[in-house]
Amino acid sequence: MFNRLIKANGRHRRLEGWPFIFTALTALAILTGTIIEFAPLFLVDDSMTAPEGATPWTPLEVAGRDLYIREGCNNCHSQMVRPFRHELERYGNFSTAAETAFESPHLWGSKRTGPDLARLGGKYPHLWHVRHMEDPRSTSPGSIMPDYPWMLTARMDYEYLPSVMSALRTVGLPYSDAEVENAPALARAQAEQIAAEIVEQGGPEGLANKEITALVAFLQRLGVQHSEPLTAAPDQP
Ligand code: HEC
Repeated sequence: MFNRLIKANGRHRRLEGWPFIFTALTALAILTGTIIEFAPLFLVDDSMTAPEGATPWTPLEVAGRDLYIREGCNNCHSQMVRPFRHELERYGNFSTAAETAFESPHLWGSKRTGPDLARLGGKYPHLWHVRHMEDPRSTSPGSIMPDYPWMLTARMDYEYLPSVMSALRTVGLPYSDAEVENAPALARAQAEQIAAEIVEQGGPEGLANKEITALVAFLQRLGVQHSEPLTAAPDQP
């Protein structure tokens, strides 16, 4: 029985007996498969450009985005509106590849315990976000979102921004030298402005150097630079 098996697999067995040739042929087989898988990726036109007039994240928004990643908000929130009628009616225009030209890493997400945030910018006043982060139940009764009260008290350190922004430039974000060098000052200036608006809206003073302000800057930016006109979704049954 065993003999018969060996005979049936005779040629392969013999091949296995030649370790060098067998290794070379195995490597060749793997290489061929790899080339077939990868070649199309290099042929695709990936000169994806951001929507016209779109600018990369401001330093403060970069800081806010880092907080969003740190807190794992993307575990519950997607940032990608799919081209279905019900999604368009709820969230607005569907997401396009060009919109994520400045996303590194992307935060599309794959889970929606909370709503999609791709078009969040401008939906609520800053103060709403401050209150919502402090205690989601205060703005959205019955919300199961965790609270993030420390973001209202934790100081934001903007000094780390130049290194992050020069890293982002390496992966293609069009920042100038001046923007990278002056990132902490630019972030502080924008934070002062947002903090003043929060006070105008009846919110607490002294948030300019707190994490919440950077997060608000980021949240208010989501989807607002999408310059393509609203298009109808492909018809869904
Ligand atoms: C455990 C899941 C979960 C996590 C983690 C989470 N959220 Fe939420 N989020 C929700 C749910 C559920 C809602 C809907 C109820 C509400 O408004 O609180 C929501 C709502 C929101 C809204 C309002 C959206 C709208 O269009 O009304 C914003 C903004 C938001 N979350 C931001 C964040 C940010 C920023 C973080 C991270 C700091 C975060 N969420 C983390 C579950 C989550």
